[in-house]
Amino acid sequence: MTSHILETRGISKEFSGVRVLNDINIGIRPGEVFGILGENGAGKSTLLKILCGIYTPTEGELFLNGNPVSIPNPSTAQQLGISMIPQEFNLIETLSVFENVFLGMEIRRGGLLNKKAMREQTSRWLKELQTDLSPNATIAQLSVAQKQMVEIAKALVHDSRILIMDEPTTVLTQHEVEILFGLIERLKQKGVTMLFISHKLKEVKQICDRLLILRDGNLISVDEVKEITEHDMAKKMVGRELNQVFPSKSVSQDKTVLKVSGLNSLPLVNDIHFELKKGEVLGFAGLIGAGRTELAEAIMGLRRKQSGQIWVQGQEASIHSPSDALKYRLGYLSEDRKGRGLVLNFGIPENTTLISLKKYSRWILHKHKEREVTQTYVKQFDVRAASMNSELQYLSGGNQQKVYLAKWMDTNPEILILDEPTRGIDVNAKKEIYHFIHSLTEAGLSCIVISSELEELIGLCTRVLVMRVGRIVGEVTGEHINEEEIMVYAAGLHDERMPA
Ligand SMILES: Nc1ncnc2c1ncn2[C@@H]1O[C@H](COP(=O)(O)OP(=O)(O)OP(=O)(O)O)[C@@H](O)[C@H]1O
Ligand SMILES: [Mg+2]
Repeated sequence: MTSHILETRGISKEFSGVRVLNDINIGIRPGEVFGILGENGAGKSTLLKILCGIYTPTEGELFLNGNPVSIPNPSTAQQLGISMIPQEFNLIETLSVFENVFLGMEIRRGGLLNKKAMREQTSRWLKELQTDLSPNATIAQLSVAQKQMVEIAKALVHDSRILIMDEPTTVLTQHEVEILFGLIERLKQKGVTMLFISHKLKEVKQICDRLLILRDGNLISVDEVKEITEHDMAKKMVGRELNQVFPSKSVSQDKTVLKVSGLNSLPLVNDIHFELKKGEVLGFAGLIGAGRTELAEAIMGLRRKQSGQIWVQGQEASIHSPSDALKYRLGYLSEDRKGRGLVLNFGIPENTTLISLKKYSRWILHKHKEREVTQTYVKQFDVRAASMNSELQYLSGGNQQKVYLAKWMDTNPEILILDEPTRGIDVNAKKEIYHFIHSLTEAGLSCIVISSELEELIGLCTRVLVMRVGRIVGEVTGEHINEEEIMVYAAGLHDERMPA
């Protein structure tokens, strides 16, 4: 008899001789939400991939309901009732929602596809997920959050008893996270067991029953979430005290480096006016659909502008493409993980110099110089990989994000727009990035930070602009930069407060 639905005994994993998981022994209780925490590259995704048949362990055994099992591939996992919501989705863009949900297990009637039944069942699950998504919508038209809902619906239709979620909230807005958590609660009532990776300690505290902490592939602890504080979680992850996550705030100079005036790229960029000062960290807050990313894209020449002007260093700039923006020394880290232009089968140096390549080539490419420069970024951001030549696809999610940052830094920007810069990044690396942003502004660069994590804006910025449906509706500075005052603007409550 065992009280564990799933158990690992002595699980280890090596990739080409490098050990990334070492002797992991855990037992998952039926119906619990089991959290997994650890720094970027700690082995979290690898462990979960072993449980759902994507990787086979180098050593060790797995037990399901007390019986030894081997899970050589994902379809075996699925038959055993184990499904994974991957970090990168596996959906076919040109097919509809219901076709994706039933892909490979289509309902048939007399040899023909029973589309009606598949549509109805999909529709039922989507309702359960509280989304107004249509079963007939094409995947290509969906937002990231909606695609994730489709992945979850797919797992539920497969009648999974164990649902594995690798950073499901990283791509979601606050509101969507709440919907997901509501769903997790309901699935828990139905007896579904869930494994959940997140870098947000608050979320782990809120939704998980127990929690595993990994460090460098080793099991550090399994705790009841009730009995551990967020502070201790961070400490165990990193292996030491984590002091001063946010640097002191930068003091900006009087000089305006970027001025945007009457900018329109309708519907989501509507008559935008603002200025960015030299050495400033200017925050942009807002809810989903507020238009912050669209504004950044319009400035960077990634989106058509109907009207308005942009001045860079006092000079009117005509920016119609990202390469125009580069000429004005503007850099933009986009929020989109896939569309951000990392080449997954290139190594780290090749990715770092993707845009700045000209610097390294006069007649021939100076490989040596390229490696040297990359090495400094690797040190600075603590990029963890087996080697500099490791293809990007083999780096953990957070480490890919760090290479992305290095790529933009290597273009020597004077103005850097960072859109959700710490998505998927562990607490310690976040701290490194915050201090790095600080050192940039000390050196005279200016930054715009778009973030859905208010804590991040509050900790970093000297001024925060709040957008709402395409417009800037508020500005908060100094001690007014707090959650409450930002939310008043973001949610549109300031109108009601204003005297008639
Ligand atoms: N297919 C692979 N080939 C070689 N190395 C790999 C492969 N998959 C993962 N690794 C390495 O294993 C280590 C653990 O990676 P893993 O993706 O499990 O980290 P993680 O804890 O999920 O990190 P993150 O928080 O950044 O997602 C990393 O050093 C990574 O580079
Ligand atoms: Mg991972």
